[in-house]
Amino acid sequence: MTRVRLTIAELGPKGDGIAEGIRGPIFLDRTAPGDEVDADIFRDAKGVMRGEVSEFLNLSPFRSDPSCPHYEICGNCTLQHLSLEFYEGWKKNLVREAFLKWDLKPKNWLPQIFLKGQNRRRATFSMSRKKGKFVMGYYQRRSKTISPIPSCEVTLPDLIDLKNWIEPFLSSLVKEGQDLDLFFQKIGDSFELVFQGLTSLPKNLLDELASLPPIARISLKTQRGIQVLFQKKNLIAQFGPLKVPLPPATFLQPTAEGERALVSAVIQAVRHKKNEALADLFCGAGTFSGPLLDFGEVSAYESNPHAVRALKEAGKNEKLNVQQRDLFIQPLSSKELNRFDTVVFDPPRAGCLDQAKEMARSHCPLLVGVSCNPATFARDSHHLIRGGYRLESLQLVDQFLWSHHVEIVGVFTKQKR
Ligand SMILES: C[S@@+](CC[C@H](N)C(=O)[O-])C[C@H]1O[C@@H](n2cnc3c(N)ncnc32)[C@H](O)[C@@H]1O
Repeated sequence: MTRVRLTIAELGPKGDGIAEGIRGPIFLDRTAPGDEVDADIFRDAKGVMRGEVSEFLNLSPFRSDPSCPHYEICGNCTLQHLSLEFYEGWKKNLVREAFLKWDLKPKNWLPQIFLKGQNRRRATFSMSRKKGKFVMGYYQRRSKTISPIPSCEVTLPDLIDLKNWIEPFLSSLVKEGQDLDLFFQKIGDSFELVFQGLTSLPKNLLDELASLPPIARISLKTQRGIQVLFQKKNLIAQFGPLKVPLPPATFLQPTAEGERALVSAVIQAVRHKKNEALADLFCGAGTFSGPLLDFGEVSAYESNPHAVRALKEAGKNEKLNVQQRDLFIQPLSSKELNRFDTVVFDPPRAGCLDQAKEMARSHCPLLVGVSCNPATFARDSHHLIRGGYRLESLQLVDQFLWSHHVEIVGVFTKQKR
């Protein structure tokens, strides 16, 4: 390692500060533009130049004191050292820059929504035992070390309370050198737990956990799939008129407020249009399909067979057609898309390049995209624009406070031939 003096010029897309070194950019975790630092620089396993700050010589004006006592040792909330004003501006710019890279500008920027903390309803805690010492918490950034996290400023307080309550029971589960994960998700008033990294759960522990009132389901996730070990009742999510009994570990938007904001943004785009036939691509368990039923018949597509089964069952008396389909392998063709008045699409982080190319060739008058990745969303949007769509609006919904993640809703229109 070499020690050098650096000035942070800007933040990169993952929120690290970037300083210009002699041989190119150097990335420094938890720094801010204007920070002057002495740092030990090294090349990481991927060949990226990184720096570890040994001393701050001058502090950026864009800083604020992190409020979380675990900020230094927790791998989440890596942007909590920024002032809220700077942080929000940076997130807006992140989206703007991703689109400018493809020379795209929306006609309108809709008002950005920044949600506050203590609202995450899903979280994965990791557990390990080293030299006899059990630890449960979050990984430190880019590290295999787990830090204990007894409180959290972004997660629902009752989720953290439950984690703290059961932590002592879990200690006996973890052997020396073993790593386990435990996923928590709050659905309605109840919680589900999903263990990962185990092949079975001791009966006494299962009974102990099952006796706790908020825990409604306990499952085990292995390479062979998910096995439910205990279920006291169905865990129901309400999407518009649909009451969907969620299968274990089903994707839900990470916050209830974020879900409401995204649904409202989608509905806002759809409500004044003619909508007899709508499609919901990458529909999950029906977050958008349910509310879209107010406007017409909905065809929903999703690759996860469990989510498909649950949504089909919930919508059997509605004008809802649900199909299991891998949209990466078999995207809806432009011909298939032409029968819809509106298509909503909400792909995973990788985006949906091939599906976007088919949408670009279609004549569907309204497309509404929801994405958690500005880079892939901008790339896919570029294909839509090349295919004759107009980018009417972009809206940022930040439900990932103090992280570099952000959610975006984009509305695209095309004149019907
Ligand atoms: C970001 S989530 C959105 C889910 C849903 N729209 C919601 O808001 O709850 C992306 C969804 O795409 C699904 N998915 C991932 N890869 C897929 C593929 N190749 N084909 C179809 N669906 C896929 C996932 O199972 C997940 O439900």
